[in-house]
Amino acid sequence: MAAAGSAVGLGNIWKFPYVAGENGGGAFLVVYLLCVLLFGMPLLMTEFMIGKRSGKSAHGAFRALSGNSRWQWLSWLCMLTAFVIMGFYFVVTGWCFNYLVEAVMNSFSGLGTQELTAHFDTIQSSKPRMILFGIVPVLLTAGVLWFDVNKGIERLSKILMPLLLGLMLLMAGVVLMIDGSSAGMRFFFRFDMAQITPRVVMEAMGQCFFSLSIGMGALITYGSYMPKGQNVIATSVQVIVLDTLVALMAGVIIFPAVFAFGFDPAEGPQLVFVVLPAIFEKMTLPWLSSVLFFALLCIAAITSTISLMEVVVAFICEASANNKRPLHRRQAVLITSALVIVLLVTCVFVPEVFNYSDLVSSCVMMPLGALGTAVFVGWILSRKKGKAVQPNESWIKCWSRKFYLFVLRFIVPLAILLIVLNGLGIL
Ligand code: PHE
Repeated sequence: MAAAGSAVGLGNIWKFPYVAGENGGGAFLVVYLLCVLLFGMPLLMTEFMIGKRSGKSAHGAFRALSGNSRWQWLSWLCMLTAFVIMGFYFVVTGWCFNYLVEAVMNSFSGLGTQELTAHFDTIQSSKPRMILFGIVPVLLTAGVLWFDVNKGIERLSKILMPLLLGLMLLMAGVVLMIDGSSAGMRFFFRFDMAQITPRVVMEAMGQCFFSLSIGMGALITYGSYMPKGQNVIATSVQVIVLDTLVALMAGVIIFPAVFAFGFDPAEGPQLVFVVLPAIFEKMTLPWLSSVLFFALLCIAAITSTISLMEVVVAFICEASANNKRPLHRRQAVLITSALVIVLLVTCVFVPEVFNYSDLVSSCVMMPLGALGTAVFVGWILSRKKGKAVQPNESWIKCWSRKFYLFVLRFIVPLAILLIVLNGLGIL
């Protein structure tokens, strides 16, 4: 459930619709789903197993399993990726908190399509406001790690996640009743081969890594908490199914509304923030549903930022463990939060940093981290006697282990290289 909390977040509800909207809808969806099967499943399992086997987070895990420090660069990459993501992720989480406050005050009710777009621009133009709203989730996340109450959050998300899904189901029902919404369903589900370009494939792969939280060590930490008997394969399937379901639901809510209300599907990062308020207007209890939705969205975002910040905090603690004066967890939380706030402010003031950190983290850094992890486990660990990180569940037969290793050794690294180099226009 904690891993699902890390996976399900703004990636599903904010990023998925806007990237799909910019990349041709149905074509993107098909490539995305293929990526989830091809990369998501093996890599999710691999990260869980690295953590479970070593009992450590990325930094300690790569060292403990390889027996030397040659693979330490991979944990540096994980830590850097977490930073790059946090910069813009907290900005968008800030937008969610801003919209939550506005939902409570009922300030966007009655606004039309153009006014809603203008409303978002007004919010954007106030830098101090964006920074203030961005700092709130940073402090909340730091607070959770400071007081070590992750377990409580996990228990809470066991109730809140189904509530979010239920509310989204209701919203989908309402949206699909609106006149003109079927065009959105066609956009989202119609597959058009001509739309698939190298760039679309790269963005779909990046979205898969981002949405499943893979390729930057976050799930290694979660694997390290797994009890011995826990089934890694079943857990991975559950996380993938839940994460994909939420993303699909977001698409089924947003695109029909986009077409019914006359928004532009390629609107960009603000897409869901301008479309959602228009949807709540059509619901039976507009105030309650918008407040509930934005509150749940904020919580979903926080369960993701916890896992992001944890990557850096664990890195600092594990990396300084052998120093004369190792850093305490709380010191690490303070250092990380301060640096994250600096990044957040940079993202607010320099829009290019915001845009590029999103693209670079998903389409370059996470694929690189995933590539490294696949090579590390597929080529290095699997050859070390007794160190092999493999699915150990007894019901897994020998051939499926071989299949897993084949995928990890050849398919995953080659596909990642091909997609990224092609997407960047290098090939
Ligand atoms: N998967 C999270 C989301 O969809 C984002 C995330 C990425 C969290 C990487 C942790 C690590 O919002």
